[in-house]
Amino acid sequence: MTNTMKIPFLDLITPHQELHAELLAVVEKVLSTAGFIGGPMLEAFEREFALYCGAQHCVGVNSGTDALRFAFLAAGIEPGSIIVTVPHTFIATTEAISQAGAHVVFVDINESTYTMDPEKLREYLETQCEIDSKRGKLIERASKRPVSAVVPVHLYGQTADMDPILELAARYNLIVVEDACQAHGAEYFSKRDNVWKKAGSMGHAAAFSFYPGKNLGACGEAGAITTNYEAMAQRMKMIRDHGQAKKYYHDIEGYNGRLDALQAGILSVKLRHLAKWNEARRGLAHRYHELFAEAKGSVVVPREASWTKGIYHLYVVRVQDREALQAYLAEAGIGTGIHYPIPLHLQKAYQHLGYKKGDFPVTERVAAEIISLPMFPQLTHSQQKEVAGKVIEFVAAKVGASH
Ligand SMILES: Cc1ncc(COP(=O)(O)O)c(C=O)c1O
Repeated sequence: MTNTMKIPFLDLITPHQELHAELLAVVEKVLSTAGFIGGPMLEAFEREFALYCGAQHCVGVNSGTDALRFAFLAAGIEPGSIIVTVPHTFIATTEAISQAGAHVVFVDINESTYTMDPEKLREYLETQCEIDSKRGKLIERASKRPVSAVVPVHLYGQTADMDPILELAARYNLIVVEDACQAHGAEYFSKRDNVWKKAGSMGHAAAFSFYPGKNLGACGEAGAITTNYEAMAQRMKMIRDHGQAKKYYHDIEGYNGRLDALQAGILSVKLRHLAKWNEARRGLAHRYHELFAEAKGSVVVPREASWTKGIYHLYVVRVQDREALQAYLAEAGIGTGIHYPIPLHLQKAYQHLGYKKGDFPVTERVAAEIISLPMFPQLTHSQQKEVAGKVIEFVAAKVGASH
């Protein structure tokens, strides 16, 4: 990821230049001790990140995808059972579900928050599932598959509406794994408990990605799972390390899914700056909101529900004809992204699930109109003004042309 645009979508060079000396010290320490796998750097980061998330335990793994997969495996998800999630997410969410041996079922998102609509979850559980009295389990009526878990995705850095999701999960005895891969430090106000909670502290477990472009990013691949359950944390530690708690004593088959000590050390350095970077992103998001006020109606800005404090991993707006806008911005040297252009239920990889166009209308509408604008803590006000100016110029020309 290099900065080839005049205003890049994401600047990964500047923060590494700013932290150069601290990061080099980590590399030197690892080289001089040859402590590449496990050890004090890993344990320190796990303690610090658990504390940051307000969770009891953190288990470092080598990607967000593994974090999700290991969370399902550690929770003992029954093979062939259903895990419910949303079609508006990165494919890693559903890859992990399938690779853990479970079956993906989608429910639609809420149009203003872009996260799981708890009413759609309720509707699925109440109208398409029933309690099998023999098995004492919730099963999907048509397929007879048991429903085992739900995965709310805290997309773009805003949490899903967790209270109703957790309430439904408790009622039907479902495991909840938060996909917090885009939400390091995002908060949720639980009306039920009258308290703000961090992403990663609410479900049975939560998965984080430290892919370089994330709000907390490694210098390579990395991820972590947080949980408040000691037994699950122990199980995850075994799963990430070939099923062993003691070297060469394998209680189960596991994976090679450990977090490198080098990446853990780098993440500890960066974690000290995360709160400041997240605040900077929030400030930039509010400034974008103000800059787009004059284009209300043509540019739909992200809406933060009263129950969430987002950390703006992405700043996603909705416009008509976003492909043309993306080309127009690229022409002006402005980098953008689309997260994500094709809903998962319409991807070739999921043809076998039997979904069709029209099944999740909110996701489909949103996916056709979204565009992610430059968003990173070092983005300057003048760069922001230029981005917003170009977007407004584009939509105004379109409005003019249609009159
Ligand atoms: C929502 C979501 N889930 C899962 C992942 C997977 O994380 P990783 O790329 O570290 O495997 C990502 C990362 O891109 C993500 O954005």
